[in-house]
Amino acid sequence: MDATKLIELAANAQKNSYAPYSKFSVGAALLCENGKVYTGCNIENASFSLTNCAERTAIFKAISDGVKDFNAIAIVGSDEKICTPCGACRQVIGEFCGQDFKVICANNKGEYKEYTLGELLPFSFNLGEKV
Ligand code: THU
Repeated sequence: MDATKLIELAANAQKNSYAPYSKFSVGAALLCENGKVYTGCNIENASFSLTNCAERTAIFKAISDGVKDFNAIAIVGSDEKICTPCGACRQVIGEFCGQDFKVICANNKGEYKEYTLGELLPFSFNLGEKV
């Protein structure tokens, strides 16, 4: 699946974003090794720190479905800035994905940049091998 298609799926999931506090909606689409795509959006809470980012929503949906081999993730933010994953999401991605995992970061115009997880999270903390 190409980057543009994955971004389109992320943008579709972004429509379900629950972001009444920041008003910044995010969508994510996680491409799995088996070809399936899990999507997610950010889900905020009045107790701000309980907010779940779009990337983690998508990853947790996949893991809870018994899927844990991933090829790429697309992330779409709601302004003109290319939306890169927060530090917490980088660490969660790193729990399941190797340094070559592709992270496609897009803005609200469909413009995007591609990174590897290794570029976004070098020298990451991990216990043992990838699960
Ligand atoms: N957000 C994400 O969903 N993913 C990121 O990687 C960056 C931040 C969300 C969290 C919060 O709901 C809003 O964007 C503003 O921080």
